[in-house]
Amino acid sequence: MSDAYRDAFFMLHRDLPREGPGEPADIIWAAGVAGTPSSARICDAACGPGADVAALRRVAPDGKVTALDKYPHFTAQAQALHGDDPVVTITTGDMGQITGPFDLIWCAGALYFLGITAGLKTWRAALAPGGAVAFSEPCWFTDARPRKAVDLWADEYPAMTDVAGIDAQVQAAGYTTLATRKLSAAAWENYYGPMDKRIAALSPGDTSEMQQVLAEARREADVCRAHPESFGYLLSVVRPGGI
Ligand SMILES: C[S@@+](CC[C@H](N)C(=O)[O-])C[C@H]1O[C@@H](n2cnc3c(N)ncnc32)[C@H](O)[C@@H]1O
Repeated sequence: MSDAYRDAFFMLHRDLPREGPGEPADIIWAAGVAGTPSSARICDAACGPGADVAALRRVAPDGKVTALDKYPHFTAQAQALHGDDPVVTITTGDMGQITGPFDLIWCAGALYFLGITAGLKTWRAALAPGGAVAFSEPCWFTDARPRKAVDLWADEYPAMTDVAGIDAQVQAAGYTTLATRKLSAAAWENYYGPMDKRIAALSPGDTSEMQQVLAEARREADVCRAHPESFGYLLSVVRPGGI
């Protein structure tokens, strides 16, 4: 990735409310499945701009939230939103290095950076006894796959698998899947709605790199909106060992 491409990418993504699909209902559901206590110590691993922190606080009103992301401009955004909350800690760092102990590790659309199996193995030591991980992951929902979707994911995430494939990677890490659910259309619009406005504001793009970044973002949003039955994000709540 060239510097000019990276700059254009971050120009598009700067100041978006979130960096992937999601909604508060996902967090409420996941905390219920995991039995997350009101005093939970929660990690928002790869928090992006901090869109999920408020809902994580709500499911653990007597707990604490540690939110971290690799990129300082995302953590600066999260800090601006939540920095005044005394039980929220925002840090810039590598989610592969978290130490815990955490009762819930929440990871929206980012575990694939570590790999599901490798990431879950790494996080085992960071979980408190009885703790759980909830993560969302791109997933094929049907065997019949539209050509445009196959091409998109071959470019963006060739290792993308289906529900059984995700579960197999969870089991390979020594975890059990407690429950799964698909992210809703509303969760997608929370991401693509603001993205549409940003694309329109930056179009047609003042450099070739920006034009490329805008074209890629438009393509992704178009294909995702056109084929929600075929693929999407699967939210999995998992726990080390048997249930
Ligand atoms: C698709 S975005 C999701 C962000 C956020 N969870 C959300 O839903 O808005 C993926 C995020 O993973 C972060 N990331 C990638 N690798 C990371 C790592 N090793 N440690 C921490 N954050 C990482 C990126 O900076 C980016 O913010």
